[in-house]
Amino acid sequence: NEDLFKNVISHAKEYGYIFASSEIYDGLSAVYDYGQNGAELKKNIKEYWWKSMVQMHQNIVGIDAAILMHPTTWKASGHVDAFNDPLIDNKDSKRRYRADVLVEDYAEKLLQKAQKEIDKAKKRFGEEFDEEQYKATNPRVKRYLGDRKEILERLGRSLTNEDLADVKSLIEELEIADPETGSRNWTDVRQFNLMFGTKLGASADSATQLYLRPETAQGIFVNFSNVQKTGRMKIPFGIAQIGKAFRNEIVARQFIFRMREFEQMEMQFFVRPGEELKWYEHWKEVRLKWHLSLGLGDENYRFHDHDKLAHYANAAADIEFDYPFGFKELEGIHSRTDFDLKAHEEHSGKKLRFYDPELKENYVPYVIETSIGLDRMFLSVLAASLKEEELEDGSSRTVLKLPAVLAPTKAAILPLVKKDDLPELAQEIFDELKWDFNVQFDEKDAIGRRYRRQDAAGTPLCITVDHDSIEDQTVTVRFRDTMEQKRVEISQLSAIIKKETDF
Ligand code: GAP
Repeated sequence: NEDLFKNVISHAKEYGYIFASSEIYDGLSAVYDYGQNGAELKKNIKEYWWKSMVQMHQNIVGIDAAILMHPTTWKASGHVDAFNDPLIDNKDSKRRYRADVLVEDYAEKLLQKAQKEIDKAKKRFGEEFDEEQYKATNPRVKRYLGDRKEILERLGRSLTNEDLADVKSLIEELEIADPETGSRNWTDVRQFNLMFGTKLGASADSATQLYLRPETAQGIFVNFSNVQKTGRMKIPFGIAQIGKAFRNEIVARQFIFRMREFEQMEMQFFVRPGEELKWYEHWKEVRLKWHLSLGLGDENYRFHDHDKLAHYANAAADIEFDYPFGFKELEGIHSRTDFDLKAHEEHSGKKLRFYDPELKENYVPYVIETSIGLDRMFLSVLAASLKEEELEDGSSRTVLKLPAVLAPTKAAILPLVKKDDLPELAQEIFDELKWDFNVQFDEKDAIGRRYRRQDAAGTPLCITVDHDSIEDQTVTVRFRDTMEQKRVEISQLSAIIKKETDF
């Protein structure tokens, strides 16, 4: 799977999906630019989410709040005091690591060691090998797996200040060394706030400390009353938003999985107190179904229910996706109680309540949040779509089987040869279709090579204009996934593309 991951990254670059940010200056770590195809795919994912969350729900509306917010927002939300990652420096190498990731990596190595032993035994015993029994009885494998389990349990999920010393002693006990230099000379573990700071105002002393928002959610909470009153919204109702978020991640790796500047698609659903767990289950189900409906393979998705909850939640689960580096969080569904609205009431002195005409009661609503990383979704779609296929004639092709609704280019218009009026007719077809679809005109190279190029870029349909087209106003439509070809009338093209690529 390491190979698959490398292929995804190089394919993303080769076909104009993702570039390193400011690459001519050697890039900026964990920051990426979306190229000509990436920008389209991203836009289509956003639209797909927005349509299903906002347009298809009578009681959900969308907003677009600013990235810069009043600094008290982040005091109220808890981000100033508690949005931290544990950090450790190696005194010799001066390299900086996330302490919990160092330990997790060590635990991962134990797993690999155990697997190596198991694989060796499998070879030795052949058919009769019972893996479960071997795991339970072989002392070395037992020790590796047991140690790993204990380490992960001690580590927990989110670390409080009190846990930091424990992580430090774990690093010492396990004799974990700097992965790069082998040195074991560590500093203490410190909390590191992940928010990017910036300043508002010209002179240094009068400037106000601001933050780039680390999540879009707070822009929704602070606008709760504005939207509720002006939209005359009745509970239950939701507010959705798509936008940039920024986190000064310590460990930058795994391509666009963990970025410093990324986008979130979040929806806060406001409900009656006491009804939140019912709605939590509802949204878990709805969101999983949404993912499955893209057809990227049901086996690629699973829930991970959290045991250890964030300070604001009374239930939380992730929808995980099977990335090339394993199952990892793609979307979070959180029952956030009335934590955020209450905190903003306290810090702003403004009431953030709803008068429920049925209950004849005023209350601070409870909130269910669905929060998905746009870039993580992008990576999941790209990774699951990239295929290397063996063809019947013994050759192979690289094909990006993107869901057609998300594909950057819906159809490529290809004149068979660059003469005999074929380019002119192809151009006419292009000019007709461009009003409704993102189509591409391509007349370079032999037709076979053009098909391969469009396959690899993820274009679901190719439309070939040949000499017969001039005579009878028909063209060949070629389908990316099946490579099937069909003769159709030019006047039918629009309906065919719509049917194949619609929401
Ligand atoms: N408002 C809740 C919230 O922000 P989160 O679990 O911290 O919760 C939500 O983030 C989603 O945002 C994650 O499931 C993930 O898809 C995405 N995300 C978080 N940090 C990210 C990063 N550094 N790079 C890319 N996506 C990220």
